[in-house]
Amino acid sequence: MATLIAPSMLSADFGRLDQEIEMVNNSAADWIHLDIMDGVFVPNISYGFPVISAMAKRAKKPLDAHLMIVDPDRYTTRFRDIGVEYLSVHYEACTHLHRSVQLIKSTGMKAGVAINPHTPVHNLYEILPEVDFVLVMSVNPGFGGQSFIENSLKKIAKLKKIIADLGLSTLIQVDGGVSIENAPSLIKNGADILVAGNSVFGAKDPLKAISDLKII
Ligand code: DX5
Ligand code: ZN
Repeated sequence: MATLIAPSMLSADFGRLDQEIEMVNNSAADWIHLDIMDGVFVPNISYGFPVISAMAKRAKKPLDAHLMIVDPDRYTTRFRDIGVEYLSVHYEACTHLHRSVQLIKSTGMKAGVAINPHTPVHNLYEILPEVDFVLVMSVNPGFGGQSFIENSLKKIAKLKKIIADLGLSTLIQVDGGVSIENAPSLIKNGADILVAGNSVFGAKDPLKAISDLKII
């Protein structure tokens, strides 16, 4: 499968969000990554439903919402109603993760589980058959523009092997510090979806940054 590219709108210029979404619409990107932060699960607050809704109206690519919030079940249906297609919740934020995943799937969205850098991939063993994708955080969640944590490569390789051993087709998404420099090794180790914030929106030519990632 060709690697999927999901630019993260967290690094976009919020003063010209329309044009930023339009740029992604016209790019080689596959998904649009939306980072939702509550100031509780992570030490930062991003944007909420009015902003997501404005982006959703203009977006022509599938929306992929990454919930860095406690108690995500409270909002699952609202994300579906607003037009989100891929929804991920954090392993560390869900006491009843199986229930949270079932709830996402019951709405018709694809379900993802995100893991922080300290969470071992083998903790996902029992939930893997239920999920469509795993989001491996390669920075501590909360901010764009951080440095990639090298150990994430080993985690991705280990997770890829577990998925293959179980005979599953679960996709692996990697998020945090992804760049044109580390993308080849991420793909080699098993990443299927690359989220990129700063390396896209901080580039002189974001359209080219996206297509460069896409053609690796
Ligand atoms: C961090 C977010 C990421 C972030 C990635 O908590 O989950 O999606 O926007 O940004 P970069 O690519 O700049 O690390
Ligand atoms: Zn994210």
